[in-house]
Amino acid sequence: MLPSEMPKASTPVQPKYPVHTARLRLRPVRMRDLKAINAYRSLPEVTRYLPHGPHTMADTEATLRSMTAQTGLQVPGQWLDLAVEVEGSPTAVGEVLLKWNAGDPRQGEIGFVFNPEVHGQGIAQEAVSEALRIAFEDFGWHRVEGICDERNVRSAALMERLGMRREATFKDADWFKGDWSTLCYYGMLRREWMALRAGPSNS
Ligand SMILES: CC(C)(COP(=O)(O)OP(=O)(O)OC[C@H]1O[C@@H](n2cnc3c(N)ncnc32)[C@H](O)[C@@H]1OP(=O)(O)O)[C@@H](O)C(=O)NCCC(=O)NCCS
Repeated sequence: MLPSEMPKASTPVQPKYPVHTARLRLRPVRMRDLKAINAYRSLPEVTRYLPHGPHTMADTEATLRSMTAQTGLQVPGQWLDLAVEVEGSPTAVGEVLLKWNAGDPRQGEIGFVFNPEVHGQGIAQEAVSEALRIAFEDFGWHRVEGICDERNVRSAALMERLGMRREATFKDADWFKGDWSTLCYYGMLRREWMALRAGPSNS
């Protein structure tokens, strides 16, 4: 895209936090989430396909310091990290991340990480679905991408259950943690999200 054609970045309108779903609450991460988030970010099985290795408490603290230094999304390229709590409990069981695309502010990327204690209950699906709603309906993004390693089958399955489309597979595209990583790119458009929300048509 030519610089003259670059759309102007308008700051995404944040919903009123916490955002509630049937079983969950989503709200920006806080420093007091440190222990709860470190409990799963420190596990090798959780970080296997994340960009970082198992976190020490100091690693998680540094991550949360940088996440909490920004309030919402102000500049394209920033990540918004939303902590996920199960209704009735103040403990973060996972995070959903939304990245505002630096090159085109009408687009974003989604990421997610959950405590294994809540895997297999549809908690991640419920939270990531709400994050897609925020991205498309509150932020007004045109397109959201998700990227995962081909071996991260739970991540791929989650994005497929949400209705995201696998658009590309790049073989051995990244040297990652001592091995080549094949990357799967998933995408969804705002109009596809709205159609899913509207349900099957009667025609
Ligand atoms: C990726 C990740 C979030 C997926 O978590 P998950 O728990 O498998 O995802 P979901 O919340 O969609 O749960 C799906 C499972 O819950 C089951 N389930 C139970 N109750 C359910 C309900 N009410 N609604 C939906 N699904 C339900 C589903 O049948 C499914 O079971 P299955 O795994 O046996 O097929 C998790 O594996 C994770 O945190 N991984 C580590 C971090 C990571 O790799 N992040 C992605 C980087 S790209």
